[in-house]
Amino acid sequence: MAEEIDVKEVPGVGDVTARKLRELGIIDVKALLLYSPIQLAEMLNTAVERAERIILSAYNLLKERGLVEDDFVTADYLLEKLSRRRYITTGSRNLDTLLRGGVVTGAVTEFYGEFGSGKTQLCHTLAVNVQLPEEEGGLDKNAIYIDTEKTFSPSRIVEIANARGLDPKETLRRIVVARAFNTTHLLLLSHSLPKKIKENNIGFIAIDSAVAPFRAEYIGRGKLSERQQLLNRFMHDLLRVAELYDVAIVITNQVQAQPDIMFGDPTKPVGGHVVAHAVTYRIYLKKSKKNIRIAMIIDSPEHPPGEAVFTITKDGISDPET
Ligand code: GTP
Ligand code: MG
Repeated sequence: MAEEIDVKEVPGVGDVTARKLRELGIIDVKALLLYSPIQLAEMLNTAVERAERIILSAYNLLKERGLVEDDFVTADYLLEKLSRRRYITTGSRNLDTLLRGGVVTGAVTEFYGEFGSGKTQLCHTLAVNVQLPEEEGGLDKNAIYIDTEKTFSPSRIVEIANARGLDPKETLRRIVVARAFNTTHLLLLSHSLPKKIKENNIGFIAIDSAVAPFRAEYIGRGKLSERQQLLNRFMHDLLRVAELYDVAIVITNQVQAQPDIMFGDPTKPVGGHVVAHAVTYRIYLKKSKKNIRIAMIIDSPEHPPGEAVFTITKDGISDPET
């Protein structure tokens, strides 16, 4: 990652505010862009107008140093930027081809599907694969795994690492795991991502499952709008983290059980349009025979509709034997 600017350098941030920001885990100026003025004002116990000025000054400072892009850029710059995106192999050539190279940096990719469709296995495989050298489909970087369902398994990581000739102990050390207890905790964790990304040279972040905690806590129609609002905030935080720090973020999501709708679409992911609007790519995972799974790209602006067949093995995600 390029240059880092201390929050102290932002015009309008004095010693006291700088200390408060550091205590909140906001050390790098870029991290200030993850907050809305209202959020920042609450956190600093200050006026919204002042928080707004701090965010704007932070933004201008980053622009001056060329650390965020100008608001108006030429289209050739955009193309050049797209060509700089990097990919992490999923372990399956078929799935990589469907995704045009694998799971991409600077974006949020959602994998959704019913239980046993392979979401957690895929996250485990990616957490190992990101550590591979570039010529083997990795980024030679480390992973963060946010586990909300207590399904992270170090012994699976060991198996996947062994299959790739990686030192299992070293591989485990290169994965930072956090258990999220509830949605409040999950939102807090998302705010400490910038700091963790810097400290640990992170290239991949898994959030497995991202939506389940919201679903579990905000039950019933009366709670729906509150839930969607929080979920919306969380999803947009993730998107900004992916873009600002150029990491690949994968979120997993279950499909909605709709027992009351007999002829409805049984393959709808939870979270509705809130999640749909915030993720960059959505991939639906469908169970087939035994350990065979089918991945389908849903609503992507740049991928043609398509399917890929992959398999789950002891060694992680791979292609079925032909
Ligand atoms: P939920 O979290 O319950 O929604 O499911 P999920 O989509 O996360 O499913 P997960 O990734 O946990 O996939 C579970 C499936 O992976 C199991 O049904 C097994 O078929 C397969 N699987 C998991 N571990 C292994 C393994 O070590 N070897 C093999 N061959 N298959 C495995
Ligand atoms: Mg799972």
